[in-house]
Amino acid sequence: MRAIAVSEYGATPAPMNLPPPEPGPGEILVRVIAAGLNPLDWKIAEGMLKDSVDVPFPLILGRDGAGVVEEAGEGVTRLRAGEQVYGCFAAVERGLGSYAEYAIVREDGPVAKMPEGMIYTQAAAVPTASATALAMVEQARIDTGQTVLVVGATGGVGQSVVQLAARAGAKVIATARDDMAGTMRRLGADETVDHSAGDLNRQVLGVHTDGIDAVLDMVSDTRAAEHLAQLLRPGGTYITTTWAVNPDAMEAKELRGVNFKGEPSAELLDRLSDLIDAGALRVRVEREVPLEQAADALADNRLGGARGKTVLRI
Ligand SMILES: NC(=O)c1ccc[n+]([C@@H]2O[C@H](COP(=O)([O-])OP(=O)(O)OC[C@H]3O[C@@H](n4cnc5c(N)ncnc54)[C@H](OP(=O)(O)O)[C@@H]3O)[C@@H](O)[C@H]2O)c1
Repeated sequence: MRAIAVSEYGATPAPMNLPPPEPGPGEILVRVIAAGLNPLDWKIAEGMLKDSVDVPFPLILGRDGAGVVEEAGEGVTRLRAGEQVYGCFAAVERGLGSYAEYAIVREDGPVAKMPEGMIYTQAAAVPTASATALAMVEQARIDTGQTVLVVGATGGVGQSVVQLAARAGAKVIATARDDMAGTMRRLGADETVDHSAGDLNRQVLGVHTDGIDAVLDMVSDTRAAEHLAQLLRPGGTYITTTWAVNPDAMEAKELRGVNFKGEPSAELLDRLSDLIDAGALRVRVEREVPLEQAADALADNRLGGARGKTVLRI
């Protein structure tokens, strides 16, 4: 089968012809029609898991995907051949991922029926980013009327965070360069602040002189997060996908710090499908490219500037 893989950590992702996987007991073989790109994909290609997982090479990249159940392994009852599914289809310990014509997922893993109103290229853009956003907004425990700052709001995770935080009743301040300010407001942000136009704290405190209740952060390193945490009122929450906070140090300042670890599941995917089908969550595909252009798309994502999701057509 055609796939995009790396022959070693740090190698350029390249098209390869590899044997299709066979589904074992409890596993589903998916014929992948579209794969969604996440920063995690190039991080893994660069060696993020090298000390924690024994990975065989070549390693097929990617985890998000949408396609059709090709074959259900022994004992599988939840999904049947021919069903349209989406989810996270990576099995890195077996060298398998979603940037391929076929991928494997466990029946009890992160796989669910596709949202009814979506085509494959849209559904492939949803799993990791929007499941992260849904779980993250819940962990932030936002109360109606609270003011929250979303940092990295214009990216894949951020766009869903903005919509779901607004839906939870928050007053949302979204980071956005000029070109994305209108989009952020249409997604539910009440205000935007431009992270390329000077200190965010100064911009936020200029309007919210008493500070804010929560920061949901997809981009900051430890130093930047420490600075942004000064925006929080006592009792406030700082939640980050980049593991940039020290929860103990924050507790000492009467703040709650959470380093978020996403665990996409069938249950989260089903809830996302419901939100999407109800028109309560939109996922913006910024760019669609053929599988063979994965290396360029990954390099571009690494450089920054995402304005939505990138999807590979298999
Ligand atoms: N912990 C977990 O479980 C988990 C789960 C999912 C994702 N993540 C991580 O979360 C991060 C975000 O993922 P993503 O898929 O949303 O990435 P993405 O789609 O590449 O988006 C990143 C966005 O952040 C913006 N940005 C960059 N620097 C910024 C700054 N200083 N202030 C405000 N905005 C800034 C970028 O726009 P500009 O470049 O134009 O500023 C871009 O729109 C990645 O590091 C990913 O690995 C972690």
